[in-house]
Amino acid sequence: MSYIKYKKNNLFVENVSVKKLTSKFSTPFYLYSEGSIIENYKSFSNNFKKSKPLICFSVKANSNIQILKVLKKLGSGADVVSGGELLKAIKSGIKPNKIVFSGVGKTEEEIRLAINKNILLINVESENEAILINKIAGKLKKRTSIGVRLNPDINAPTHKKISTGKAEDKFGLSKAGLISFCQNCKKLKNLNLNAISVHIGSQILSEKPFKKTLKVLEEIIKKTKINFKFVDLGGGFGIVYKKNEKKINLKSYSNLVERFRKKYDCNIIFEPGRAIIGNTAILVARVQYLKKGSNKTFAILNAGMNDFMRTALYDAIHNIIPVVKNSKKNKGSLEFVGPICETTCKFVKYNKYQSINQLDYVAIADVGAYGASLSSNYNTKPFIAEVIVSRNEARVIRKKQDIKSLLNQ
Ligand code: LLP
Repeated sequence: MSYIKYKKNNLFVENVSVKKLTSKFSTPFYLYSEGSIIENYKSFSNNFKKSKPLICFSVKANSNIQILKVLKKLGSGADVVSGGELLKAIKSGIKPNKIVFSGVGKTEEEIRLAINKNILLINVESENEAILINKIAGKLKKRTSIGVRLNPDINAPTHKKISTGKAEDKFGLSKAGLISFCQNCKKLKNLNLNAISVHIGSQILSEKPFKKTLKVLEEIIKKTKINFKFVDLGGGFGIVYKKNEKKINLKSYSNLVERFRKKYDCNIIFEPGRAIIGNTAILVARVQYLKKGSNKTFAILNAGMNDFMRTALYDAIHNIIPVVKNSKKNKGSLEFVGPICETTCKFVKYNKYQSINQLDYVAIADVGAYGASLSSNYNTKPFIAEVIVSRNEARVIRKKQDIKSLLNQ
């Protein structure tokens, strides 16, 4: 994370001191580095450059429109999963012919929107969904470009709550289901079956399951005898959250992808979310209270699970780092928790930490993906601000929600 680092014990995002920002904006707030978003996008794109894939940023990972605009400028398309995300992607300037729409439960309204906007692909997840799309496309008199999502029955090593490619998961069609779908699809005259898509899960740190997935795709493509114009390989590439984790190395996978692309003469699509945005942000918070527990001290932050859900939902470990480092030691262990009235509103516990005082500032690390986008108004707390740094400048890209907007509902 070279864009987020200490200079003489002070945490900086690019050239901006986080301590200084705490006097400008009230905490908690999300703080992004634009430079690191750009770097991540370029590095992902570079890794697969031989295959010239269409990179469709997975909007669910972060749907801030200003961030979508940064990515749009770099050439990114969008992977969306709702009408709202679709409209936001278009509003950010991303062209419909770079947008793919996934999800198992698209509504009539969302399908109509996607057809009317002429997006690149509606990635279909069931035969009944295809029947509905065909009907709506007929009414709108528009032939519609679809993909079909395969469930390859691959167990990718990741948290059980974010795996999507096993037979028991609700996503996509089984191999047999997909083959019969391709037959039946011929009868759906308003649809063009242009793609096969797959997404096996998220936060995957090994290349192996991705390689296995390519093999399953080959097997299926051979059986269907269809020349798919696009092969959408999804997202899921993990990032390093913990010290003992190893960065995923996508070199040999990218060679296989290129071989695959040539062999089947198709266009490759990727849908990365976390790999682009995960490590580009911190959540700046203040220690509201210190409280002695029976065998540890609680550092109660002014940010909670409403602002950042990943720990409560997936037991995800996110480091909490001081905004100003010191060389004194805290006595005993220290647990960072949030203010929400739920036991799971806690973040991380350290046996050793620097000395911490009330009103000190800290930063929850690597919160760019599924941070702001998963936040909620639980406990009637307003959404917090989002700020982005570009070199020497910080600008607000989402204002803290006005509490008044929560009072009448
Ligand atoms: N494509 C599809 C069809 C997806 O369902 C997802 C994520 C992605 C792409 C992007 O995956 P990524 O590259 O970001 O791993 N909230 C969870 C992650 C849920 C992922 C859902 N699908 C978390 O915070 O870990």
